[in-house]
Amino acid sequence: MIVSRLILRNFRNYERLEVRFDPKLNVILGDNASGKTNIVEAIYFLSLARSFRTSETSELIKNGRQFASIEARVEEDTIHKNIVAVLTPNSKKITCNKKQIKKLSELSSLINVIVFEPKDALMFSDSPLVRRNFLDINLSKKSPVYLENLMSFDRLLKERNALLKEDDVNEVQLKVVTSQLIAVQEVLCKYRKAYINEINNVLQKIITNIKGSKEEAHLEYLPFVKLDGDFIANATRAYERNLESDIRHKVTQLGIHREDMKLILNGYDISAHGSQGENRIAVIALKLSSYFIIEDKDKKPIIILDDAMSELDKTHQERLLEFVGKLGQVFITSTKLNVKNASIYEVKKADITRRNA
Ligand SMILES: Nc1ncnc2c1ncn2[C@@H]1O[C@H](COP(=O)(O)OP(=O)(O)OP(=O)(O)O)[C@@H](O)[C@H]1O
Ligand SMILES: [Mg+2]
Repeated sequence: MIVSRLILRNFRNYERLEVRFDPKLNVILGDNASGKTNIVEAIYFLSLARSFRTSETSELIKNGRQFASIEARVEEDTIHKNIVAVLTPNSKKITCNKKQIKKLSELSSLINVIVFEPKDALMFSDSPLVRRNFLDINLSKKSPVYLENLMSFDRLLKERNALLKEDDVNEVQLKVVTSQLIAVQEVLCKYRKAYINEINNVLQKIITNIKGSKEEAHLEYLPFVKLDGDFIANATRAYERNLESDIRHKVTQLGIHREDMKLILNGYDISAHGSQGENRIAVIALKLSSYFIIEDKDKKPIIILDDAMSELDKTHQERLLEFVGKLGQVFITSTKLNVKNASIYEVKKADITRRNA
């Protein structure tokens, strides 16, 4: 799928912006604070009904205005759709061909976007929450079953923690909630494991391509309980062993909310051993892996690389450009980049112009 046209009204620093994009590589150049990220943020918003930079819808509305809108023409094979988001400080409404979209899964099948943003570069030395969010967001987009179970998990975890906080813990009720919590985690852990396996089928190839040398790379999933054998029995034993400690700490210490994953590059954990550039390349490769996992050619996601090139040397920049140039629609923002075979746009004074029309 591609975004062939984008119209913004009162979005961030733009009063009105209209632009046509290339089905392949789009490079958006401009000085700091000119509004490059704002443009790709608008495209991303349409895919998840939220920004990757803020959870406050009001921040997306141009200062002093009452509402903002993002309008995109999305093309998939020969089908064209008009997706519109209208934002007010406390509401957001998204329509496709004037029909309201109510479910996230509906939206991500209309427009699916992968984004690399600058703060992702240190994803593997950041807190485990960031890595769990990566799994949860991608799996929720991919599978309504995952999303449903994840929502049940959040509800059950709150229930269990509330029980643990009582002065006199009701162990009978605790046992019931614990077994429900284990049942949903069996589903979630299986999805996480399968997804990490899928990533591992493509990750090494992508890293090798961008780095230009043969590399061994894989994600290592760290589940909260052993996944081989009988999950329910293993998890039940683990919760029983931990019960006293949970009661003492008044919180659930075991579960998928405490899981993590590592990226192993040539035998070493990248968070402790990798260079900044290696970390950046590995995370870009991880993000790009979603592109290869989706098999349906028409459903391939739009790729946004926001300021991904900085900190990479010229050779790695060229390799990355060459690699993504072979994929579908790609947006790259940068303050300065030498690139051929791309549509180049310049952002200045809250407007955008195509340089090589
Ligand atoms: N709600 C808003 N109303 C008006 N202007 C806004 C709003 N939100 C952000 N801006 C402005 O948008 C500009 C930042 O835009 P953006 O983050 O897209 O810059 P950029 O081109 O990506 O810069 P950099 O190269 O530093 O990443 C800032 O000048 C900021 O003040
Ligand atoms: Mg930016």
